[in-house]
Amino acid sequence: MLAQQTLQLIKTRRTCRSFDKFTDISEKKLNNILEAAIWAPLSIYQLQERKFIVLKGQAREKAATVIVDDPTILKYMRYMYDHQPWGRDEAWENKAIEFAADLGAAPVMVLALTQKNANRHKMEHNLATMWCAAQNMMLQSHAEGLDSGVVTFASEKVKKQLVELTGLNAEKWEPVYILNVGESREDPPPMERHRENVIIVKEK
Ligand SMILES: Cc1cc2nc3c(=O)[nH]c(=O)nc-3n(C[C@H](O)[C@H](O)[C@H](O)COP(=O)(O)O)c2cc1C
Repeated sequence: MLAQQTLQLIKTRRTCRSFDKFTDISEKKLNNILEAAIWAPLSIYQLQERKFIVLKGQAREKAATVIVDDPTILKYMRYMYDHQPWGRDEAWENKAIEFAADLGAAPVMVLALTQKNANRHKMEHNLATMWCAAQNMMLQSHAEGLDSGVVTFASEKVKKQLVELTGLNAEKWEPVYILNVGESREDPPPMERHRENVIIVKEK
């Protein structure tokens, strides 16, 4: 039963881009989501070199302003609506513009940072570790009856400003994503997944 429930949880999780700004999430739910982040797989190169900074109220507003003030926030969304399998999609375009105005208006944002590492292999591990935590948080949010959505940054300027907001050293720390969490105001359809990407090799 747990196997089926887990798979169902994974398959029904969606990226949310429109939240109810005025419905806060309970401390208990938020703690569970952060606990899920902490328990994600760790690389030995990145045992504790990471931070999950919860931004609410004015702190959330400041971070959202830094992100939406930069035009690169729309780049990702524009790519999405320009590359739908059925062609350019106007509904998506409007959604993107609304999203870019206040980043979906989630009441809670988790800013995830890793330490920079000049060694490419180790940096890859650092980033991978953060993405494992992202998936854990998204699934736990979903299990808590909440929705979530990850936002990444194409601009070095935005990254630097975000680290500065936290008081950490921008030379040392790299923001990897922010995770919006809250009550959803939308019910986005799933994007198609291709089963043929799974290849089973059997050798006797
Ligand atoms: C590495 C990565 C980066 C992403 N960056 C963004 C982003 O910057 N903005 C955004 O709105 N969604 C972002 N997403 C969310 C994806 O667009 C989303 O997962 C995808 O469209 C599939 O939808 P689903 O999550 O509802 O299954 C990102 C996802 C991943 C894995």
